[in-house]
Amino acid sequence: MASSEFTPEMIASLKNKVHQSARDGMAISIFAMLWNLDRHIVNEVLEHHTEEDGQKTTPLIIAARNGEEKVVHVLLSNFNVNIEQTGVVKFDGYVIEGATALWCAAGAGHFGVVRCLIEHGADVNHPTITNSTPLRAACFDGRLDIVRFLVEHNADLTIANKYNNTCLMISCYKGHREVVTYLLQKAANPDCKAHCGATALHFSSECGHLEIVKELNRFGGSMLKNDHNMTPLTIAAECGKEDVVEYFITLPDVTQEEKIDALELLGASYANDKENYDLQRAFYYLHYAMSERHKNPHKIVGKPEYPPVQAYENRRECQTLAELEAIQHNNSALHMESLAIRERILGPDNPEVPHPVIFRGAVFADSGRFDRCIALWMHAMQLRQRNNRTISKDLLRFSQVFAQMVHLGVQLEFSHIESVFQHAVIELERDIQRAHKDDDDKDTVTEIYQANIHTCLYLLVIAIKIEKKDDEVQRLHRLVYFFLKQRPCLRNGYTPLHMAVDSATLVDDFHVNDVVKFPNSDLAVMLVRCGADVNSMDQLGNTPLHIIVRYSEPINDFDTLLQVMLVLIKGGAHMDICNHERKTPVQCTTTGVAEVILRQHNQLSLKCLAAKTIKDHSIMYKALVPSFLEEFISLH
Ligand SMILES: *[C@@H]1O[C@H](CO)[C@@H](O)[C@H](O)[C@H]1NC(C)=O
Ligand SMILES: *[C@@H]1O[C@H](CO)[C@@H](O)[C@H](O)[C@H]1NC(C)=O
Ligand SMILES: *[C@@H]1O[C@H](CO)[C@@H](O)[C@H](O)[C@H]1NC(C)=O
Repeated sequence: MASSEFTPEMIASLKNKVHQSARDGMAISIFAMLWNLDRHIVNEVLEHHTEEDGQKTTPLIIAARNGEEKVVHVLLSNFNVNIEQTGVVKFDGYVIEGATALWCAAGAGHFGVVRCLIEHGADVNHPTITNSTPLRAACFDGRLDIVRFLVEHNADLTIANKYNNTCLMISCYKGHREVVTYLLQKAANPDCKAHCGATALHFSSECGHLEIVKELNRFGGSMLKNDHNMTPLTIAAECGKEDVVEYFITLPDVTQEEKIDALELLGASYANDKENYDLQRAFYYLHYAMSERHKNPHKIVGKPEYPPVQAYENRRECQTLAELEAIQHNNSALHMESLAIRERILGPDNPEVPHPVIFRGAVFADSGRFDRCIALWMHAMQLRQRNNRTISKDLLRFSQVFAQMVHLGVQLEFSHIESVFQHAVIELERDIQRAHKDDDDKDTVTEIYQANIHTCLYLLVIAIKIEKKDDEVQRLHRLVYFFLKQRPCLRNGYTPLHMAVDSATLVDDFHVNDVVKFPNSDLAVMLVRCGADVNSMDQLGNTPLHIIVRYSEPINDFDTLLQVMLVLIKGGAHMDICNHERKTPVQCTTTGVAEVILRQHNQLSLKCLAAKTIKDHSIMYKALVPSFLEEFISLH
């Protein structure tokens, strides 16, 4: 058929049919549809990327992804399709961009397709945009036959992905022992380091794959430190992988100090781990470690000094077996002893230290010991913030527990909210810096920034609700002032004042929504008093007054509506500012109630009327009036 006989609709339909047939393995249909068509139409159809289920694939790629060997064969043998095409595919919930047909077949475990593609000359090392090779995909999946076939056809097992994570590392992480052995036999280097400083031995230890750990050791894998100063042994201990720890400590290279640290860390980790909580095991290993410290009475290995931590009840670690045995049945002492041990061994800057502290705090909160919960969470948050890690979740967690306390009528001290809010203000500043620095993840950083602004508002509403002394009210206002000074702003241009007066402002639904509601007149009053600009506009030119007049519950919640409108009007809100649809607040009202309030308080000044007339009649004013008036007129 000549191409002139094809309408665009026909070509679109053909693309669709060919893609479906490729996806479903209808090789003969594909041949029938394409064999007598013009060459450039065939090319157009076979180069077309179809979006479906979050994937973006050509017929060849979807066929390879689904293991449709006959389709792949037909496309390659008859239609000269470009074998290096790339697309977007999903594997195990991950989105992979820039994947070739070979990458997909290798990752999905379709040996026949892999062979067919290689026989037709596919580039065995063609990587995805994160530099993942087909061999890496096969190693992830753990298919030794495919790994072997690729290596025998010149796959380069030294190519690492963009995190410098090698094929050997991913096999170790996923626990594919046969693949690991094969790669090591093919001279994969067990001591390569990923960007985080981790080696294959770290990955296998972390996951507790003992046989792989032994195999790496047999091929000369070394006990190296990652960027957080952790060896594979410390990682295994921290993750509660006792088999791996027990194996490592029998190795001749491991010193007595390293052995003791690992046993103590292992025990301490069992005492506060959400998944592996086991206090008996914890005591067993702490006891084992203490016995090792005192094994040689002439050469006792003492514990290094570490300053007591208030959040751990200033716990001083046990020094002797007798001291340890005295707390065997005292759970709370064992919990705090263990948190102290972890922080001493891992160091306060290690990112693994906070998780169990937070877990222990959550258990306290569940049993109503809010004071202990707050102390532990505060400590965890401080550790994170001083290491420049994000504390977004910590902040939200605090607003949740504070809301819960207010809801239950439990006494909540203002100083706690103050302290959390101070951390929040620092965090907002860092979010802005992160957004400038991190081009990769700008969207995520912005999301977090917006979430943090929400959390700040929750904290302020809670702070308003609790009883405060006079000086605490002043301190609260100072916090708000510093918060506003940073000009926090959502993507839609909303300032905190817009958020405070909008019923659509998101409220977290774990305890927070028991206490925090928007629009919130108390919050609006405080924000205005502390300097919020009542005439600030969002991206659509709406001022807070434009927002509140659309409130849909003017009867049930009349007080809120009235209070918010009054504070805005008294705070100097211009009644006649137009949004981008050229509508004033009055023109935005959706209920008679809001309109009545507005008209009652409408004190439109002569100056405003004049400005509006100038704008309405497009009278020239730029450069004709003093510059401070120019801006004033332009608002109208
Ligand atoms: C990546 O791994 C290679 C091989 O082990 C190593 O030479 C290199 O230093 C690593 N690069 C980074 C940034 O870690
Ligand atoms: C448990 O240890 C704590 C110290 O951490 C102590 O205050 C408490 O009295 C002990 N409880 C019992 C029952 O011995
Ligand atoms: C955290 O970041 C600040 C500047 O943004 C820097 O001065 C400080 O050294 C960093 N601290 C750590 C532990 O990375």
